Amino acid sequence: MKRFVIISELRHYLNQEKIKGRTVAFVPTMGALHAGHKSCIDIAGEKGALLVVSVFINPTQFDPGEDYAKYPRRFENDFGLLNQWGCDAVFTPSADEMYAGGENVWVDVEGITEDLCGRTRQRHFRGVATVVAKLFNIVEPDVAVFGQKDAQQAVVIRNMVEQLKFPIKMELSPIVRENGGLAVSSRNEYLSDADRHRAQAVYAGLRHGYELIRDGLRDPAGAVQAARKVMEEASITHIEYIELVRASDLKPADTIAGVVMLAAAVRIRGTRLIDNIVMLVDDEVRETLLF
Ligand code: PAF
Repeated sequence: MKRFVIISELRHYLNQEKIKGRTVAFVPTMGALHAGHKSCIDIAGEKGALLVVSVFINPTQFDPGEDYAKYPRRFENDFGLLNQWGCDAVFTPSADEMYAGGENVWVDVEGITEDLCGRTRQRHFRGVATVVAKLFNIVEPDVAVFGQKDAQQAVVIRNMVEQLKFPIKMELSPIVRENGGLAVSSRNEYLSDADRHRAQAVYAGLRHGYELIRDGLRDPAGAVQAARKVMEEASITHIEYIELVRASDLKPADTIAGVVMLAAAVRIRGTRLIDNIVMLVDDEVRETLLF
């Protein structure tokens, strides 16, 4: 596995490979790699393409007061895992390398960034869209894989890819869960054992809402209420949102039909956790990917 920290050196290597006819599959990450990343990397690996992974903790996507300083940094461990997982090249730039030239050009995806997580994380999606646009311009992948857990991020990036005309195919990887249902996340390691147990109620709540819909419920408020009750009964007191939205534009779903997402964000002793279930509601109801 090759390791790059300088943009021009990575570009040079990728150009050499592309001349030989290799296509490139790309998975951007912030490191602290876990089974969710592995699932994205496995999907990218299936393409038979050169597999490139970035590990960059992007400062501009953390709002003031968020966990940038304490975000887990385990670079050496991550490199070992990426090597095992068949990655061809890892890109680990410094913040100076990524933001040299200034910080006055941003990719601002409007509308869909204002709701759900955007309500409490005001600069987050601008930072995400900007860094992913930079990474896409550097790596110029054919395919890029993202996790469905960060569903709003995936829709934001899909809008960016479509409207800025990046010639990149986006793929999604389903949410990977721990035993007990908690969605795997780098932030889970902030949780004590007891909090981790309590956090299982996030998925349990969403799952309950999903099962009611599967059994015929078609009232969005009823599904949200049912999910909330499960979380509150598990003493999750800080619920930022539980919403049922259309998968296409993340706006509140007036009716439960087509592809909809039941999504939640909570805080457990300061640790922010998000989760969702995306479902296709037709003659029958089944879990699906956002796109
Ligand atoms: O999902 C993440 O880990 C990050 O938001 C991403 C896409 C790597 C951008 O920094």
